[in-house]
Amino acid sequence: MQDYREFLAEILVSTETMQKRIAELGVEISNDYRGKDLLLVCILRGGVFFLTDLMRQISIPHTVDFMAVSSYGVGARKSGAQARLTLDLNTDINGRDVLLVEDIVDSGYTIEAVLELLNTRHPNSLRVCVLLDKVERRETPVPIDYRGFTIPDKFVFGYGLDIDEYYRNLPFIAVLDQSRYLGE
Ligand code: PRP
Repeated sequence: MQDYREFLAEILVSTETMQKRIAELGVEISNDYRGKDLLLVCILRGGVFFLTDLMRQISIPHTVDFMAVSSYGVGARKSGAQARLTLDLNTDINGRDVLLVEDIVDSGYTIEAVLELLNTRHPNSLRVCVLLDKVERRETPVPIDYRGFTIPDKFVFGYGLDIDEYYRNLPFIAVLDQSRYLGE
């Protein structure tokens, strides 16, 4: 695989800027959920990187669980098809204060489908925390309670976001220069 520097257009969100914002979100969430039974639900896989940094900035006791969904493909997603659950939670969320943690909201269909599913399980509350909001791409309205950054409609990678599964490990959000990316 290519070194990312060969197709890096720009760094959109630096490590320092991101960590500062995550610390702010951690304080906000800690204040809002003080005295509550907070459960963070992370949607695999991209959200894991944000989740672990966010958890370290949340100062109140909380638990974490994971779920995974896959869309039926880009075309299907565009037509509004539901995401398919490929890994379910181990936790009973009945009565829990659930906060969904996601790396990015694009069309909104993933979050919409997950919220619809989890709402049937009667949580005490259900809210959404996303690091990146690509708001221009939204096709279905989704509630976002905590937002790291609003970003333009550019192909981004790093910090959980992949290009063909690679480059998730980069500690910043980068923009792809498509003309220099060789791909498959
Ligand atoms: C990405 C991201 C969200 C979803 C957002 O996941 O992590 O789950 O897309 O897109 P949407 O708002 O249009 O539904 P992806 O399917 O790329 O899986 P990954 O997290 O494993 O990379």
